[in-house]
Amino acid sequence: MDLEKLLSDRLAPAFAQVAGGPVDPLVRRSPRADFQSDAALALARRLGRPPRDIAAAVLKRAVLDDVCASAEVSGPGFLNLTIADRALADLAAGLAGDSRLGVPSTTAPQTVVVDYSAPNVAKEMHVGHLRSTVIGDAAVRLLEWLGHRVVRVNHLGDWGTPFGMLIEHLADLGEAEAAHELSMGDLDAFYRAARLKFDADEAFRERSRSRVVALQGGDERTLRLWRLLVEQSERYFLTVYDLLDVTLSAGDFLGESAYNDLLAGVVDDLDGLGLLTPSDGADCVFPTGFVGRGGDPLPLIVRKSDGGYGYPATDLAALRQRTGELGATRLVYVVGLPQRQHFAMVFAVARAAGWLSPPAHAEHLGFGSILGADGRMLRSRTGGSVKLVGLLEEAVARASDLARSRNPELDAGAATEIGRAVGIGAIKYADLSTDRTKDYVLDWERMLSLDGNTAPYLQYAYARVRSMFRRADGDARLDAPVVLALPAERALTIELLGFAGVVTAVERTLEFHQLAGYLHRLATAFNAFYEHCPVLRAADDVRESRLLLAELTARTLRQGLHLLGIRTVDRM
Ligand code: ARG
Repeated sequence: MDLEKLLSDRLAPAFAQVAGGPVDPLVRRSPRADFQSDAALALARRLGRPPRDIAAAVLKRAVLDDVCASAEVSGPGFLNLTIADRALADLAAGLAGDSRLGVPSTTAPQTVVVDYSAPNVAKEMHVGHLRSTVIGDAAVRLLEWLGHRVVRVNHLGDWGTPFGMLIEHLADLGEAEAAHELSMGDLDAFYRAARLKFDADEAFRERSRSRVVALQGGDERTLRLWRLLVEQSERYFLTVYDLLDVTLSAGDFLGESAYNDLLAGVVDDLDGLGLLTPSDGADCVFPTGFVGRGGDPLPLIVRKSDGGYGYPATDLAALRQRTGELGATRLVYVVGLPQRQHFAMVFAVARAAGWLSPPAHAEHLGFGSILGADGRMLRSRTGGSVKLVGLLEEAVARASDLARSRNPELDAGAATEIGRAVGIGAIKYADLSTDRTKDYVLDWERMLSLDGNTAPYLQYAYARVRSMFRRADGDARLDAPVVLALPAERALTIELLGFAGVVTAVERTLEFHQLAGYLHRLATAFNAFYEHCPVLRAADDVRESRLLLAELTARTLRQGLHLLGIRTVDRM
């Protein structure tokens, strides 16, 4: 069990007695003792009593003897708590015997749908899709590890008016040639060529429009050409997922087109519920609470004036299927912040229609942009959007070069393996270690650095432990008693015990920078331990204890990084 929870559980009844009602003891790490509780200060005004008095009264009632070496009132009314070495050693021994490192499986498994990645057919994935893919995959890994039933949905953009021009361009090229061009992964070139013709050539525009009609009407040949576009694009996306080491597979593609047959029903049902309002020839829902700049109510357009359905209708159909057919109670949408209003409105309409009612709820995990060194949206040298594969290949190449320069005797295979783990890890970690709602700058130097809050720093700490065990010539004894002689051992043990608390918090918030920050603190505590506490040269029982702490550190780093979708390597 994690220490913050243990202390909270001990303090809460005492606080409740003193306050005459439930109180969160607000336990957190403290630089002055191991932990500190601030709740007395917050209570003082409410109880009309000096905070130090309250803190003293709580201390008198709380049962802490078996857990704390000291517990005292300090400053204006904090409770400073120092954990007893005995308790720390016992808890650490408990971790050693637990393959889940103290993290319990959930007792309330949910069906969770995670909607992520979702690139668009015949278009290059851009860096926004990179963020969605990386964040979504971390969510999937963490929730699955905790025992939830997770359904990955790759809501591919595979439908809509641009497909008229894309299919027409494909038909002009001939199927074989088009398949060849697309399989080269140059989706943007294909898209651009279609767009150019569309803009320049009235006859092509006309053909494209009739093509959309043929597509919607289910014309055989048109559908076959459309499928070719989708298949080639999917194949290409899968190579990106493979390079990126994400768990999305072919079976997870469930594009916008999959909901076509449901759209009319969605709109009819909204009408039946009295939620539909005609507006300029379109059918709209005006969810309460949404107003535009001028104060006018904002519409969610579910059927356009030309009779077609768009992005909002598809999302409503998908949501209804997720809560209905799939029985999901948690819906997670990993999509950039510019779509915040879209999702807020879709959720509001779904609630009004009764398709999203408790315990089911939906969350938009919005995220900011990736910026270039100039602090502006990341662009390629020619000003276009950056090709994702190019970015990933550059990361692997840079990391392989670094590995070779640090370790000239590495053979080519090992350097590539390290380069892949470190390069891809660095990209993912740079993303996951920043508050996802913020923009961040893609800075190669920083993210590949062995110092700081980076993937290589964590991977290096892991490799250090592995190298120690190669020299130790044997594994750690998992039942070795933990001896806490030096402050660095205590500090490391306290960090090790914090894993469960962080993982359970992230289960709720899906704020992966909290997990990253924890792993960074753990690696830092380990490095201090490594510096101050000789392991292999220590006397028997101390050696065994230190080996055990090192082993627990490695396992925790490995599991934590794995949850973020990042590999570890045994040497680097
Ligand atoms: N294809 C969309 C885009 O590239 C993202 C789709 C996100 N998911 C959803 N259910 N709307 O912006």
